[in-house]
Amino acid sequence: MSGNKESDGGGWKNFMWNSEKREFLGRTGCSWLKIFLFYVIFYGCLAGIFIGTIQALLLTLSNYKPTYQDRVAPPGLSHTPRSDKSEIAFNINDPTTYKKYTDSMRSFLGKYQTDQQKAESKFEDCGATPQTYKDRGSLENDLGQRMACRFNISWLQQCSGQHDPTFGFEEGKPCLIVKLNRIVNFRPKVPGNESSLPEALRGKVNPNLIPIHCKNKREDDEGKIGEIKYYGLGEGFPLQYYPYYGKLLHPQYLQPLVAIHFTNLTVGHELRIECKVYGANIDYSEKDRYQGRFDVKFTISS
Ligand SMILES: *[C@@H]1O[C@H](CO)[C@@H](O)[C@H](O)[C@H]1NC(C)=O
Ligand SMILES: *[C@@H]1O[C@H](CO)[C@@H](O)[C@H](O)[C@H]1NC(C)=O
Ligand SMILES: *[C@@H]1O[C@H](CO)[C@@H](O)[C@H](O)[C@H]1NC(C)=O
Repeated sequence: MSGNKESDGGGWKNFMWNSEKREFLGRTGCSWLKIFLFYVIFYGCLAGIFIGTIQALLLTLSNYKPTYQDRVAPPGLSHTPRSDKSEIAFNINDPTTYKKYTDSMRSFLGKYQTDQQKAESKFEDCGATPQTYKDRGSLENDLGQRMACRFNISWLQQCSGQHDPTFGFEEGKPCLIVKLNRIVNFRPKVPGNESSLPEALRGKVNPNLIPIHCKNKREDDEGKIGEIKYYGLGEGFPLQYYPYYGKLLHPQYLQPLVAIHFTNLTVGHELRIECKVYGANIDYSEKDRYQGRFDVKFTISS
């Protein structure tokens, strides 16, 4: 037994290093070197194939134009202030309850301030009335960076923050600032068929403006929402700000804004309001609550 054990141990040691045949783990140094070389070449080729495929794929991509655009249309509609569960609740008499809303509006409007849009080489005036699309060449040519249209913050009137730093919250007449999310090369189209519009917009279609409209979401709130005013360049999104050329070609781009001013919301009620933009190529989705619309809940106390 014990002799067996010894020979076992000797066999193991022998296997590790067989000094007779000069083999390590049963192979000679030369054999080990061949194996090592084989794997170096094998993995080298794998890495080569991998890098080659990625490079070939990258060659087919353009820096400027998305190859696969799953978000061609319709765009999302987003609003500031935005809060948890889209609920905006505040007390008119307690500024601390709405400070977070007004702060976020002020910071959002930062890049829309006049002094941020001075550079003549980057910004241009695109008119003070809604006009048609502003074509700045194709995405693929070598014109380089494109000009952006200025957006005059005064167009937001009482919601610009220029005269009223509380954006109406102090008086219980809050503003919301709304923009359509950027989509490269997207041209929103004005609504083609008046029958799809809410009554208030019928007969007022401007051929160069994407209109927006808000109304009570629940029947119960009918008559409690009061008058809603829309400010901006026209009461919607003017077409001369489209199309957007993307981050590289259009780094200074400013989306047109619309301010929605709720001038007579009923105090002490939870009010659900839905805002929608209307356009021939803008529709709505059951799954995405921000596609072409949003809803918000106001609860004002005093
Ligand atoms: C913005 O619009 C206001 C009022 O329409 C005007 O007085 C002001 O000069 C404009 N500002 C710029 C920078 O165009
Ligand atoms: C507008 O839409 C309605 C139904 O949604 C349709 O019956 C009507 O023919 C359309 N009108 C035009 C001019 O397309
Ligand atoms: C505000 O709404 C109330 C009803 O909720 C109405 O009686 C009042 O006239 C409205 N005020 C204005 C300025 O429209």
